[in-house]
Amino acid sequence: MTTASQLTPVKWEQDHLLLLDQTKLPVVTEYLTLTTIEQVWEAIRHMQVRGAPAIGMAAAYGLYLGIRDSGAASFAAFWTEFEEKAAYLATSRPTAVNLFWAIERIKDRVQQEKEQPLSTIKQAVLQEALAIQAEDERVCKTIGENLLSLLHDGMGILTHCNPGALATAAYGTATAPLYLAKERGWNLKVFADETRPVLQGARLTAYELQRAGIDVTLICDNMAAMVMAQGKVQAVIVGTDRVAANGDVANKIGTYGVAVLAQAHGIPFYVAAPLSSIDLNTPTGAEIPIEERPAEEITHGFGKQVAPDQIKVYNPAFDVTPARFITAIVTETGIFKPEEIAKSKN
Ligand code: MRU
Repeated sequence: MTTASQLTPVKWEQDHLLLLDQTKLPVVTEYLTLTTIEQVWEAIRHMQVRGAPAIGMAAAYGLYLGIRDSGAASFAAFWTEFEEKAAYLATSRPTAVNLFWAIERIKDRVQQEKEQPLSTIKQAVLQEALAIQAEDERVCKTIGENLLSLLHDGMGILTHCNPGALATAAYGTATAPLYLAKERGWNLKVFADETRPVLQGARLTAYELQRAGIDVTLICDNMAAMVMAQGKVQAVIVGTDRVAANGDVANKIGTYGVAVLAQAHGIPFYVAAPLSSIDLNTPTGAEIPIEERPAEEITHGFGKQVAPDQIKVYNPAFDVTPARFITAIVTETGIFKPEEIAKSKN
């Protein structure tokens, strides 16, 4: 079960959704109360909830909020309405496949229940959203146990972005072995890249690991090479927003650079990936849609102008690490070479 020190980014309470507003962390801990699908869309788009599994969970609850007051008189009318809501929610962010995975899973459940009264179908949607969240906690813990088998006490671990409890139901994906190691009394030394431009590493990973009593050191993204050269890092572990069928991995911008650095220093580079992030329908990383975010994230980060007016900006939020830089992809079903990732779903 979730350890007391962990933060819960997504909570369903009776008739509304609570989302921990991640744009305000680490300074303010505030839950948003959401009652409509439009509010969920906004929260995903503006990264108040973020991280691939958490986006999927929020979307599942969002779909329920979108259809719970449907007055459709037949299943056909309900289905049309449901598909419209699903398509709308799917436009909130493009890269994390967990969003589309969660929507498809809810759609399948609705189809399975199609002979039932609409009130039963609506409840089934909520039950499926709750199941997705409950499963995610188990999945993350199992990924953590699998990753832990590749580590040992005393190691230095570098991570990028926030693949943490704040991005999942609990434990995180890439951070799960760090929490489990802590529970077992190991002393891992974690280096968290700050992760420009939105600083998920500084604001979220450093925060949640420090809160859990894990030995974490914050570094700027451009310090990773030096920290590796100094022999302080024995493994890199990152999360992912989408793994393509050939083992290419999309994750937060900067991940690719870290992988190249890891290979240059002979350091293993592991990707923690729930099966919900593995997209066998996308053949290679080149086909993964990469979100571009507003220029202001770079020119006016956190409200302060740091670049000239009218400057041209390119702000891709993710990059693709080619499979050849990845030592292993670790899922809840085991440890896989990137080129064998399809086997994880067998
Ligand atoms: O833009 P974000 O904050 O949603 O990006 C998150 C990441 O890139 C995470 O590393 C990824 O979703 C894995 S979360 C377990």
